[in-house]
Amino acid sequence: MNPAPNLVLIGPMGAGKTSIGKRLAARLGLAFVDCDHRLEEVTGAAVPLIFECEGEAGFRARETALIAELMRGRGQLIATGGGAVLAEANRKQLAGRGFVVHLQVSVAQQIERLGRDRSRPLLAVGDKRAKLESLAVERGPIYRDLADLAFDADGLTVAIAAERLGALL
Ligand code: S3P
Repeated sequence: MNPAPNLVLIGPMGAGKTSIGKRLAARLGLAFVDCDHRLEEVTGAAVPLIFECEGEAGFRARETALIAELMRGRGQLIATGGGAVLAEANRKQLAGRGFVVHLQVSVAQQIERLGRDRSRPLLAVGDKRAKLESLAVERGPIYRDLADLAFDADGLTVAIAAERLGALL
């Protein structure tokens, strides 16, 4: 079902793109790349520090350059950041050389998974639930349009989600 050069996970923060992606990559024999972690390796700075020093625009520019670079390769499972789909250039790259899977979760599950996490600058101020709900309204249609496959990961453990998703691919 997945003849594309790369498998790409999209979806909101706390959907399990990194944790499920890691397991799924091992199951499918693909190289796992997490975009945020790669940016942190390259810059030597955690995502919140990149936002602080370069602004969200600076972070997005780095994210777009990384996605263009990654999509030249093949055999990778790429876990994108939740906002990577906002840029048209990224959507073209991901859809062009990737089989795109949308990991769907409820806001309640996102909150449970994110817990007291401090690594998401977009959730650093204000009410977390309200912010996640407004992002879901804004980005939900973009995820849905871009995806080749939607997978409901709500309420599933990482292991079960990876197993079930792997069986579909
Ligand atoms: C973001 C999601 C984060 C990270 C950055 C911005 C977003 O990635 O890229 O904090 O805009 O939704 P995760 O989806 O892996 O949390």
